Amino acid sequence: MKEKTKILVTGGTGYIGSHTAVELINAGYDVVIIDNLSNSNREVLDGIEAITGVRPTFVEGDCTDMDTLRRLFSEHNIKGIINFAASKAVGESIHKPLLYYRNNLVTLMNLLELMPEFGVKGFVFSSSCTVYGEPDENPVTERSQRKEATSPYGNTKRISEDIIRDTVHSGAPIGAIILRYFNPVGAHPSALIGELPNGVPQNLIPYLTQTAIGIRKELSVFGNDYPTRDGSCIRDFINVVDLAKAHVIAVQRLVEGKTAEPVEIFNLGTGDGVSVLELINTFEEATGVKVPYRITGRREGDIIQVWADPTRANTVLGWKADTPLTDTMRSAWKWQQHLREKGIM
Ligand code: WQD
Repeated sequence: MKEKTKILVTGGTGYIGSHTAVELINAGYDVVIIDNLSNSNREVLDGIEAITGVRPTFVEGDCTDMDTLRRLFSEHNIKGIINFAASKAVGESIHKPLLYYRNNLVTLMNLLELMPEFGVKGFVFSSSCTVYGEPDENPVTERSQRKEATSPYGNTKRISEDIIRDTVHSGAPIGAIILRYFNPVGAHPSALIGELPNGVPQNLIPYLTQTAIGIRKELSVFGNDYPTRDGSCIRDFINVVDLAKAHVIAVQRLVEGKTAEPVEIFNLGTGDGVSVLELINTFEEATGVKVPYRITGRREGDIIQVWADPTRANTVLGWKADTPLTDTMRSAWKWQQHLREKGIM
């Protein structure tokens, strides 16, 4: 029997990592996950196994530790890496910048340094639309200007992109694909995996679903006086399973040596801007559940509007985010109900 191609998913028990592990297994890859469980838990592996029938190999460990990684690469013949292992809370990063720079950048540098040593050719990196800041024009393309970061978290994404570019251009025998995500939302339709926010959610959808189920009294809508069609901010909400599938295509492209450039960059979004108020309406229509909300003041640092031009990913990767937003909202709601049934939240 032909041996399956082994892919390392760092941060693979996290929100996007776990959905990507599922899609990799479904596509016939052998998945090795490394995660320090700082913002996830082991039960996620049960969810992945329940969906796919396969339990991925799991290494509990921290990617900032070179010895742990070296051991992992010696034990597993890894062909490609998808790097999700990172801290991602914008607010926290302002109070703990060194934690963010250490976790996100040391992890990245360790992996890039070890790749040539172990013959790993492909690297997929989780970047973010945060690198575009407040864009001069929407939708943003990959050629749109990157702006000064407004948080240490955002800065780690920008610096990471530069580190990857410089490393690949220095002649290291590796290829990289940088994926810039817009706003990933929703959960696997089975509701066996999803987003597990720590404490009070900072992001819109987990706060919204927790309000809908009664954990929170009301959702605060941060501003309705922005220069947008209804005054609330506009984002490009992308279904997490659609997003996960793009990673499978990207890593395959790298492993099979089909990239057109040593470092490729793709926006991953739907191409549609949806306002916060429109999103609340869509959720209510899709689920039949009312979300009590109140307009409050603006949140400091919020971008007014940003949405993707995903043409490059559509044409070059042959990938499209095509799950309707109503289905995505239903999946987020089903996941919240699953958490309640399991007594998790
Ligand atoms: C979306 C919109 C809020 C909560 C952040 C990071 C980004 C990315 C995803 C991460 C905004 C509004 C929110 C609430 C609200 N990457 N909102 N009430 O800020 O677009 O992006 O997360 O890992 O890099 O910056 O996402 O979900 O926090 O906010 O009105 O209780 O919802 O003002 O307009 P954001 P978000």
